Amino acid sequence: MALARALLAAVSSVARHSGSKISIAQRGLASSAIVNGVPVEVHNDSGSKRVVVTKSLPGDRWLQYLVNADCRVEVCKHPDIILSNATIKQLLGTKCDGVIGQLTEDWGEELFEALRQAGGKAYSNYAVGYNNVKVHEATQRGIPVGNTPGVLTETTAELAAALTLAAARRVVEADVFMRAGHYKGWLPTLFVGQLLQNKTVGIIGAGRIGAAYARMMVEGHKMNLVYYDPYPNKQLEEYIRLYGELLRHRGEPPVAVRRVETMEEVLQEADVVSLHCNLDASTRHLINAKRLAMMKKDAVLVNAARGPCIDEAALVAHLKANPDFRCGLDVFEDEPAMKPGLADCPNAVIVPHIASASMWTRSGMATLAAANVAGVLSGYPVWNKVDILPFVEKPMSSVPQAAPSIVNAKELGLKLVADA
Ligand SMILES: NC(=O)c1ccc[n+]([C@@H]2O[C@H](COP(=O)([O-])OP(=O)(O)OC[C@H]3O[C@@H](n4cnc5c(N)ncnc54)[C@H](O)[C@@H]3O)[C@@H](O)[C@H]2O)c1
Repeated sequence: MALARALLAAVSSVARHSGSKISIAQRGLASSAIVNGVPVEVHNDSGSKRVVVTKSLPGDRWLQYLVNADCRVEVCKHPDIILSNATIKQLLGTKCDGVIGQLTEDWGEELFEALRQAGGKAYSNYAVGYNNVKVHEATQRGIPVGNTPGVLTETTAELAAALTLAAARRVVEADVFMRAGHYKGWLPTLFVGQLLQNKTVGIIGAGRIGAAYARMMVEGHKMNLVYYDPYPNKQLEEYIRLYGELLRHRGEPPVAVRRVETMEEVLQEADVVSLHCNLDASTRHLINAKRLAMMKKDAVLVNAARGPCIDEAALVAHLKANPDFRCGLDVFEDEPAMKPGLADCPNAVIVPHIASASMWTRSGMATLAAANVAGVLSGYPVWNKVDILPFVEKPMSSVPQAAPSIVNAKELGLKLVADA
């Protein structure tokens, strides 16, 4: 009887908020419901602001931000892995105050207009990159757009390092060989790969992730660094210079760092090239057939940035023509598809866009995305300090009263913490 009453109360609550309902079942503190024809998990169903989260997120700290901001949170449970615009619009319905969306979704004119019409005032991407978001479309409609910088850096750099080592030392090929039962005994010529120690690592894009990766390769493998970025990274250069001095002081071969004027110089010189630039019109197909041909025949190319930075069909042709050339890819041009032939190249290590997939990072991303939406809906100013970790690590009772990262704050004239 009591259960039936609870279910009835929950159903009427869903009806109150969404104007539609089909079914509901209590599950812990969350409940399952069908809202606007889409299955969702509802948290804090009495919250006065409706926030839609298009995919389940790890951890629970993110939810605390939204609940503390008096939000009712609906997490989409639609079975499609990549939601269509039609499904997202259906989910937004006629009243939606804020959204946390995914990099697989196309946040442009259509969705921002639907969000505006539903009274939406905040959007956050669950990612640091936001090439899936047409920020000017949000800005035109007065909608702040958040992203999640600062918590992906080391995790993403570690995966790029893992891909580098796996490709250089042929780890995946050797694993497949073992599992197939082909190993009949040690041989001097079995799966011979490349030594990285004291070679040259090249970085295209020496921002947060590029610099973290560079340090891993320089410190871990004593590689020299050559990089191309329109802007110099003086901190990184100074760090490597000092590290080189330490090595020299200890009587070891020092390491060197050099920023070059063109990416072609990186391609010609480096034994390993790792891409860490953001994707925009200037970086689409940055690596093409002509540039691949400039690289060393036995180089390693790593991409944990965005798939379209590489002309993937050209890469497949290059891998086939140059069996000693190797690559490690976390991202693909037409994700989730791969260009024909890539899966058949034994000299390619391929993983399904998992560079940020450590628990600390993925729950940190959720926390920042939720803090962006909660902060905007609470009317807080925008955090404009580099250190974003207080949002992720401080006790909830003392987290900053701010939206951690709003990419169009300036265009929208939002108040910053410093002037608040
Ligand atoms: N695979 C993943 O899961 C994953 C995870 C996190 C980030 N990323 C990608 O990595 C990118 C970098 O992230 P970040 O946090 O280091 O960003 P960031 O802004 O700190 O660094 C990007 C750097 O690229 C440089 N750059 C821009 N255009 C360039 C060009 N034409 N050539 C060379 N360099 C150029 C910028 O000057 C900047 O220094 C993101 O934009 C995102 O797309 C991917």
